[in-house]
Amino acid sequence: MVFGGRSSEHAISCISAGSVLRALDRSRYDVLPLGITPSGRWVLAPDDPERLAITAGVLPAVDPAGEAVALSVDPTRPGLVPRGEADVSAVLGAVDVVFPVLHGPWGEDGTIQGLFELAGVPYVGSGVFASAAAMDKGHMKALFAAAGLSQAPYVVLTDRDWATDRAGSLARVRKLGSPVFVKPARAGSSVGISRVAADPDAGSGEVEEAVEQARRHDPRVVVEAAVVGAREVECGVLVDAGGVPRASVCAEIVVREGHEFYDFEAKYLEDAADLVVPAALPETVADRVRAVAIEAFEALACEGLARCDVFVLPDGDVLVNEVNTMPGFTSISMYPRMWAASGVELPELVHRLVQDALRRGTGLR
Ligand SMILES: Nc1ncnc2c1ncn2[C@@H]1O[C@H](COP(=O)(O)OP(=O)(O)O)[C@@H](O)[C@H]1O
Ligand SMILES: [Mg+2]
Repeated sequence: MVFGGRSSEHAISCISAGSVLRALDRSRYDVLPLGITPSGRWVLAPDDPERLAITAGVLPAVDPAGEAVALSVDPTRPGLVPRGEADVSAVLGAVDVVFPVLHGPWGEDGTIQGLFELAGVPYVGSGVFASAAAMDKGHMKALFAAAGLSQAPYVVLTDRDWATDRAGSLARVRKLGSPVFVKPARAGSSVGISRVAADPDAGSGEVEEAVEQARRHDPRVVVEAAVVGAREVECGVLVDAGGVPRASVCAEIVVREGHEFYDFEAKYLEDAADLVVPAALPETVADRVRAVAIEAFEALACEGLARCDVFVLPDGDVLVNEVNTMPGFTSISMYPRMWAASGVELPELVHRLVQDALRRGTGLR
């Protein structure tokens, strides 16, 4: 199991890893916890979920003092090798399968998946392409559009658009109407996102400011029309033993007063949002959400698991918002809660994910 990592979601990954570590059936699996420090160093970590929990208000992190190791990318000599060891015959043990409990860049975006492909080690979750596609909101939306899924109108502003055609970029944004959501293409946890309700007479100042804020996280920015009056609903997708994606019960996020949307504070501060599992939706609407979740999963060629987030309009129409290829696994995370409410408890869930990874293997599939 690999966790931690270089993204801003390091601590969340550690907490998720603690849950997965606790849930893996030790009569079936020998677990080797491998932490990646925020600076990218790979170290062996203690097999102790307690050390990956929030203790006395302090967020967990990978301890850089662990023994440094590297994954051999030689598929004829697979396994973990002690780093700096001249004689790599001292392989720490062949690795049968990896569970990358990593969120965000360098973990959920196809980069580490590429390493596992090179090494020929099966891994839980989506492959290189789907991971990269789902990490970038611009490319993700293009694939949703190609699959005929309904979503809010959007534009992508590349670094070059912004540098060489500011007026044209702002004109494209104006066509979306108001309000709009301005987002870094490749971020998560709502960082860098703002909602702008522009006064038509006030010019583009606020939009420009919001784009600059998003650009502090990513030079590629996505601007989309706000979906007004919708409910925010999520659905878990899990591939079954026959390789068929199945959808969980739905959940609803009800953001409390004082938060304009499901922003960073609402996500991580207690009592800022109610998470309702299962969502109180008419059965036909919940079925529609489940169908959209599976279509979105397939539009991106996801594998193993994903959480699909949608907006449900007052008339029951469903707009897709995004897919997360490695959702959180903390005790309060929606993905494991939706599956528990669907009759798949966490130990069974992680077992199925590992089995799915082994069934698929690596390479073209
Ligand atoms: N087009 C939109 N209309 C209404 N609300 C939106 C829209 N886009 C995003 N939001 C709000 O912002 C939150 C974060 O946006 P999202 O695209 O899910 O980014 P992240 O990847 O950071 O979770 C959503 O959960 C929702 O509350
Ligand atoms: Mg989201």
